Amino acid sequence: MTDLSDLVQRAGRIFPGGVLGNHRGESDLEFVVKEGRGAYLWAADGRRYLDYLLGSGPMLLGHAHPAVVEAVQRQLGRGSTYMLLNEPIIELAEEIVRAVACAEQVRFTTSGTESTFMALRVARAYRGRDKIMKFEGGFHGVHDYGLMSVAPRSPKAFPAPTPDSAGIPQVIEGEVLIAPYNDLATTEALIAQYHHELAAVIIEPYQRVIVPAPGFLAGLRAVTRRYDVPLIFDEIVTGFRLAYGGAQEYYGVVPDLACYGKVVAGGFPLGAVAGPARIMRHFDPSLEGTPDFVVQQGTLNGNPIAAVAGLATLAELRKPGTYERLHRMGTRVRDGLAAAAREHGVVAQISGEPMVFDVLFTDRPVTDYRATLSADAARIRRFNEECLRCGLVKAVNKVYVSLAHTDADVDETLQIFDTVMARLATMRA
Ligand SMILES: Cc1ncc(COP(=O)(O)O)c(C=O)c1O
Repeated sequence: MTDLSDLVQRAGRIFPGGVLGNHRGESDLEFVVKEGRGAYLWAADGRRYLDYLLGSGPMLLGHAHPAVVEAVQRQLGRGSTYMLLNEPIIELAEEIVRAVACAEQVRFTTSGTESTFMALRVARAYRGRDKIMKFEGGFHGVHDYGLMSVAPRSPKAFPAPTPDSAGIPQVIEGEVLIAPYNDLATTEALIAQYHHELAAVIIEPYQRVIVPAPGFLAGLRAVTRRYDVPLIFDEIVTGFRLAYGGAQEYYGVVPDLACYGKVVAGGFPLGAVAGPARIMRHFDPSLEGTPDFVVQQGTLNGNPIAAVAGLATLAELRKPGTYERLHRMGTRVRDGLAAAAREHGVVAQISGEPMVFDVLFTDRPVTDYRATLSADAARIRRFNEECLRCGLVKAVNKVYVSLAHTDADVDETLQIFDTVMARLATMRA
């Protein structure tokens, strides 16, 4: 058996903070994975955990799904990457166009961050303007434009941005406007005021675990259309998860551009930008040498391993009844978590859609980023740690549900939530 603490110590020496940078160094949440199968992870010491992190979302089918493993193994014997057109990547692009209402053409990248970065660049080229608008609390990856007001401790008056990271050139702050999610009147007023300078509005249609208020996305669609400002949906979490056609199908609002990552690549590094030819044409190399041309390239773009993993994943998702099952399982987990909090008198909001949600320890309904600031951060840390102690891994700020979770897994999950809420009830608020 591998010595878990030895591996953790070695990681502590070799990685800054001992972590991969994927979340905020909460040391108790770190453990070393040996294996993932279905709805479970095994740590290096052999202990089994129920997995509600799912690689931060991509593993919607669960780990090592046989159809994905088989497709990848078959492709591996044919070569890993070519940087040339290949059949699997063409098929994946065609499938995205079939699935996604706003998609006529597709460009592939190797991560979600790169997808939103490229969507913003192509929108700038299309509009001939520089500024972008994003929403407070919205996350679009870790490029300089995205890391503005994702998690400001003391939010500023709208639309002033707060950089979330050191090392971002100050000049970028002048290029990003921040709007309040779910506040249509303020957002409309800001777009009316700044539309002459705006290249795009980018939004997580379902922001983190905050559900869009009725009419908010439709209103945003209407005002961006009125001023011909491209609306970008970041569907990196929602794509193929809320519905096969993503948030735009689930909420019935179609943006101009959409960004993909996570589920679309079945656990391999691939992202995508999809949209209409009138915008996507700026990526066409026949424009090279003109002011319209947008450079977009990458050694691993069009990678056939990621493509076959994505195709196998999407084929499973298209099977009848898949999303109904995901919805039913997620609802059981989400409602069971709410019941456990109620049962033990723990004040909490269970926020979000059944396929991905979380608990926030606050008495305020969670409708925007500022409401999340009222949540007890120490309590969520404790909740995550206690879940881990009881054999359940979740994301720092999300519970991702998979199609591999069975009713028996959910029964076990709800018992864990009951135990954890009972322990939290003894902790002073
Ligand atoms: C909504 C959203 N956009 C973008 C990203 C960045 O994707 P990646 O981690 O693949 O760069 C993430 C990652 O969690 C995300 O949740």
